[in-house]
Amino acid sequence: MTEHFVTVARKDFLEPGELTYVEVDDEPVCLINLDGELHALNDMCTHEEASLSDGTIDGDEIECPLHGGAFNIRTGDPTSFPVAVATEKYAVRIVGDEVQVSVRK
Ligand code: FES
Repeated sequence: MTEHFVTVARKDFLEPGELTYVEVDDEPVCLINLDGELHALNDMCTHEEASLSDGTIDGDEIECPLHGGAFNIRTGDPTSFPVAVATEKYAVRIVGDEVQVSVRK
């Protein structure tokens, strides 16, 4: 499958430290502005059913709202119990003043 970028927001939509829920090709995505860098992770926690976009940013980690597990925002890797499985990290690019995400590799 080839990359398929979808516009999800304007470039200035999120301030550093903010996050939002978007959908890309029917996949739930958590879009995060981490210190001015945009990152996109699958929004569904890999532990149980919780939306990471309802969670909180703590340093370079996103903490799940349900049991406090956490993921590294830059890599999607698990960083805190009870999360043990990485979440998917997606490609993000800026085109003009639009933020685009691809959930396909
Ligand atoms: S559902 Fe996210 S830590 Fe349990």
